[in-house]
Amino acid sequence: MTFRDPVTGANTEYSVSHRLDAERRALHITLHYRPIPTRGKRAGRGHRISLCHRRLHPDEVAALVRRAGLKIVHVTSGAGTTEGRGRSRRDDAVLSRGSMKPHVVCHMMISLDGRIHPSRWTESPDGDRKAWTTVYEDVHGKLAGDAWLVGRVTMAEMSKGTPHPPANPGGVTRPHHFARRDAGSFAIAFDRDGKLHFRQADIGGDHVVVLLGPGVSDAHLAELAGDGISYVVAPDDAMDARPLLELLGRELGIKRLLVEGGGNVNGSLLQAGVVDELSLLIAPALDGARGITGLVEVPAATGLKGKLRLHLASSAALAHGVVHLRYMVEPT
Ligand SMILES: NC(=O)c1ccc[n+]([C@@H]2O[C@H](COP(=O)([O-])OP(=O)(O)OC[C@H]3O[C@@H](n4cnc5c(N)ncnc54)[C@H](OP(=O)(O)O)[C@@H]3O)[C@@H](O)[C@H]2O)c1
Repeated sequence: MTFRDPVTGANTEYSVSHRLDAERRALHITLHYRPIPTRGKRAGRGHRISLCHRRLHPDEVAALVRRAGLKIVHVTSGAGTTEGRGRSRRDDAVLSRGSMKPHVVCHMMISLDGRIHPSRWTESPDGDRKAWTTVYEDVHGKLAGDAWLVGRVTMAEMSKGTPHPPANPGGVTRPHHFARRDAGSFAIAFDRDGKLHFRQADIGGDHVVVLLGPGVSDAHLAELAGDGISYVVAPDDAMDARPLLELLGRELGIKRLLVEGGGNVNGSLLQAGVVDELSLLIAPALDGARGITGLVEVPAATGLKGKLRLHLASSAALAHGVVHLRYMVEPT
């Protein structure tokens, strides 16, 4: 492709190349610019701009490659897409050897001071809590996750059950039980000690999956299984998030997971390095009080400094005074 350089006026040649790095799940895109030689003049060396996107789900890699105007040679994703004429062994390697961890987007509605309890916020002539919740749900839909995950405290606001004897007492299976693999959409919660009880096996049509610690009793597992709920028992109390997410990707085919609070689950997953993107809806409101749970909570002694880097991907003003910011989370 050629174009006229707006500064020098020289005709310039433009090309783009890419390289997929199997080890680091990275897509490197390089843009090359080179002035086209004119009579009596030698061509300059040109310029090279390198872009690198890391830790992307194969679907995201495919979208990026398309957006960059590149030919997709061969893509094998969960959906089994195959495009193009040729076949590149390097592409196959990155896409088929890639991890089964879903692409994780942390999606939250926050006040201007980063707090997450809308009932505590100041009012605004631009909109109210109901309107902001509608914006949140709308963006939730557009983010097109096939699952959402919350902490135990947040799920307790929705599960609303009380302890009850299992409908079908009997042997329980460990480390996991999947009542439904074909649900299409899943509502997932961390509940290390088995404190959550459910009135039904779905929340708003999304099949419930509970991630439990190893100390949870067989009686609790039987209650969940009897209620038609799926569960995974982690091998140790640390409940390492990465292998748990890998398992959800492998067993339930979850490719895009929306982490939707509260602050403690957001903090623990950012700290574990499993979050790929932040999607923040900022309402025109303030909380202001000290000691209130914020967007991200990690133990004060550790913090997140040095653990990750944020890269602004987009910003948009939405309805009712809400601003939508999206950041890519990069490892350090
Ligand atoms: N504004 C928004 O968009 C938004 C969205 C969601 C929620 N919220 C609000 O946030 C509030 C709750 O936030 P929160 O930070 O207090 O609680 P939370 O994040 O919902 O739940 C925290 C609990 O989840 C478990 N947990 C979290 N990460 C874990 C991990 N990696 N491994 C194992 N267990 C893990 C722990 O349970 P155990 O203590 O049992 O071990 C932890 O104490 C609610 O009031 C809710 O309304 C706001």
